[in-house]
Amino acid sequence: MPEDFKIIYLADARELVVPLAPLFIEEWEPYYGRQGPGDAETDLNDCCNRDAIPLALVAIDGDGEIMGTAALKARSIETHRHLSPWLAAMFVVERHRGHGVSAALVAEIEKNALRLGYQRIYVGSRGVTSAMRDSGWTRLDEAESLRGPIEIYVKELVG
Ligand SMILES: CC(C)(COP(=O)(O)OP(=O)(O)OC[C@H]1O[C@@H](n2cnc3c(N)ncnc32)[C@H](O)[C@@H]1OP(=O)(O)O)[C@@H](O)C(=O)NCCC(=O)NCCS
Repeated sequence: MPEDFKIIYLADARELVVPLAPLFIEEWEPYYGRQGPGDAETDLNDCCNRDAIPLALVAIDGDGEIMGTAALKARSIETHRHLSPWLAAMFVVERHRGHGVSAALVAEIEKNALRLGYQRIYVGSRGVTSAMRDSGWTRLDEAESLRGPIEIYVKELVG
């Protein structure tokens, strides 16, 4: 990972909404693609908050290039609307994978959740990285998503 890598609020770099949108469309085609119900640019613009959810973080390199992103959202998995908030929309650009970018993003999302008063957060995913398991994320349930079966994980942020 580059030494000058940093994590910023999307709210502080709104110009990144436009280049992030096609990454979301490609990764989550059933939801953000032409036939899907979601609109990537609208969702990203909605995440331009610092002190309220939804908020998105972006990992950028020294040249300001996008390395990855993650968000803290009130809702994520439709079957589990009773749970909130969620680590969601986590994506690392392919050539930067495997170097801890997502681990750094998750840690910052957790800090922001705690700062905003949340005691636990959830994620719906096909699995979590070993770094997440090691840091206390535990499997809670399973669910169906537009991309097939997923697992719900929880992390207690305090106590
Ligand atoms: C899942 C994802 C965010 C991980 O990002 P990352 O920065 O590579 O994560 P880290 O470096 O912190 O951890 C690496 C983990 O990702 C896995 N991984 C997935 N694809 C990888 C790739 N192309 N290269 C290297 N590692 C990869 C590794 O196996 C490793 O898992 P492990 O720790 O259980 O062995 C990234 O692979 C991604 O954007 N995937 C597509 C979107 C997605 O599935 N998002 C999660 C659901 S919201």
